[in-house]
Amino acid sequence: MIFELTEEQQLIRDVARDFAQHELKPGVIERDEQQRFPAEQIKKLGELGFLGMMVDPKYNGAGLDAVSYVLVMEELSKVDASTSVVVSVNNSLVCYGLEKYGSEGQKEKYLKPLAAGECIGAFCLSEPEAGSDAASQRTTAVDKGNYYLLNGTKNWITNGSTAATYIVVAQTDPGKGHRGINAFIVEKGSEGFTVGPKENKLGIRGSDTHSLHFNDVRVPKENRIGEEGSGFKFAMKVLEGGRIGIAAQALGIASGAFDLALGYAKERQTFGKPIAEHQAIQFKLADMATQIEAARLLCFKAAWLKDKGLPYTQAASMAKLYASEVAMKTTVEAVQLHGGYGYVKEYHVERLMRDAKITQIYEGTSEMQRMIIAREILR
Ligand code: CAA
Ligand code: FAD
Repeated sequence: MIFELTEEQQLIRDVARDFAQHELKPGVIERDEQQRFPAEQIKKLGELGFLGMMVDPKYNGAGLDAVSYVLVMEELSKVDASTSVVVSVNNSLVCYGLEKYGSEGQKEKYLKPLAAGECIGAFCLSEPEAGSDAASQRTTAVDKGNYYLLNGTKNWITNGSTAATYIVVAQTDPGKGHRGINAFIVEKGSEGFTVGPKENKLGIRGSDTHSLHFNDVRVPKENRIGEEGSGFKFAMKVLEGGRIGIAAQALGIASGAFDLALGYAKERQTFGKPIAEHQAIQFKLADMATQIEAARLLCFKAAWLKDKGLPYTQAASMAKLYASEVAMKTTVEAVQLHGGYGYVKEYHVERLMRDAKITQIYEGTSEMQRMIIAREILR
């Protein structure tokens, strides 16, 4: 067992760390307050190859491994989780889904610009009445011969107004249950496709979350991903990799909050000494550091399994479940450790606390991760 990063992985981590400090940190508080999408930052991340990190270079990707992806997600999320969620969706839901399950034509037309960072994508599974119970899709895609007619609403879609390419899951044959579900590529600007207002959120406020409405949208047959009826399994497989990305996002939020708490604890004096010298504070720091390290190892394990081509359903859910719980606990403690200063925006930890919460909800709630883990261990 080797616990060392390769030189290439260290280099990639350092590039991401540097980018987070110099490109994400300035303006992160304002973007959060104003709910402003990090457009310039996303463009630069595309130029660095961070939007198609794991895609084969022949499709304009960077050809990196999933461990590098975890490193980048952690570094970006330490500073700005609103930006890192865009990176996560584009890499692990959209690009991975197209590369692994798309046709050659779909890869040429859609994957190449997405992996090059020329545009971004969205993954549209959730609906007003189908979140955790993803198989109960209400959006319909009626087979009309050489096209499908799409009708319905998707909810909470990240990159909802900023994406150019949308992967949309819909029910084609309700009688077949999950085996009647398909996934389609829908282009922005398709007739009948409209974007609802931006959601006003607790956290990751710079990210762009919208409902989407499909009213008799014609989707060409060649835009269906995979075999007829394979859309639910496609979504489940893609989400496994997505959960590694969100686990790493949660890890980053936790470690970002920890770094701030540690620095503050060494500086802030009470009762004649730095608060870091009070044992009660030391114990908090020790617990935070231990839990963050455990979360990091779970993320690496899941990524390593993916890189090796081994099953990682359970590992990805464990990483996501644990890292998101650690993110929430750590950020709450980081605010506490900052006292009143933690409660105001300038110190960053209140934002990290608000951002942490979403990691327990999206890409499958903590309850859904427990359900998946339990099914795997009882199998
Ligand atoms: N890989 C392959 N196939 C899978 C699978 C997997 N990981 N998980 C399930 N399947 C297959 C099953 O084998 C089964 O197929 P058969 O009938 O042929 O055997 C079929 O799918 C149905 O499986 P289940 O009966 O287990 O399905 P279920 O209805 O009980 O749901 C669930 C299972 C895991 C809870 C699923 O509904 C789920 O993942 N829910 C959470 C949804 C979610 O994560 N949404 C995220 C939206 S995207 C997002 O959130 C992005 C963002 O924020 C940035
Ligand atoms: P519900 O499924 O209604 O669940 C409500 C509560 O009940 C949860 O606590 C849940 O864990 C619990 N629960 C449900 N069933 C059970 C059970 N059987 N046992 C125990 N507890 C249960 N979706 C996308 O498709 N694409 C995106 O890009 C995307 N981005 C998002 C961005 C944001 C900011 C948000 C808030 C959501 C996003 N989502 C996206 C949707 C997200 O994946 C769903 O919100 C999530 O899967 C939960 O679904 P729900 O909100 O319908 O909650």
